[in-house]
Amino acid sequence: MVCLGNICRSPVAEGIMRKKASDKGLNLFIDSAGTSNYHIGEHPDRRSAENAKKNRVDISKLKARQFTTNDFSDFDLIYVMDSSNYNDVVALAKTAEDRNKVQLILNSLYPDSNMSVPDPYYGGEQGFENVFTLLNNACEIIASTIASENEKG
Ligand code: 4NP
Repeated sequence: MVCLGNICRSPVAEGIMRKKASDKGLNLFIDSAGTSNYHIGEHPDRRSAENAKKNRVDISKLKARQFTTNDFSDFDLIYVMDSSNYNDVVALAKTAEDRNKVQLILNSLYPDSNMSVPDPYYGGEQGFENVFTLLNNACEIIASTIASENEKG
């Protein structure tokens, strides 16, 4: 799960995905990162953490890190929050296989729409609730899809 700062959107996506994986009994390796180095080592933005907690997801202990080229080998799927993240991550890909791992997360919810999860950093509380709802709906589809693929074997 990737955004710009790894303190507002992608930690929420990571927390939601961890919870859904656990609820569905999926053994997944899940992490998040930022394309920038602005907030490395910081816990999630207080507003993101409080909103997530209100929605029964604990992200308070996560710490921001920067996306690296190693992430292409460590992960099968790389979900980015917006088109700028998409361009930044794809610019680091060395192969077509790596490039194909990168997807706008809202395309899981609204196929081919190329919509972005709005950056809530400079806005109010409603922006954080909107981010949670969008990511919760997208992650439900991602987790259900993986669960049904696992059933098929
Ligand atoms: P995020 O939000 O990418 O969802 O973590 C932001 C966090 C920090 C900044 C921008 C967006 N910033 O400019 O510091």
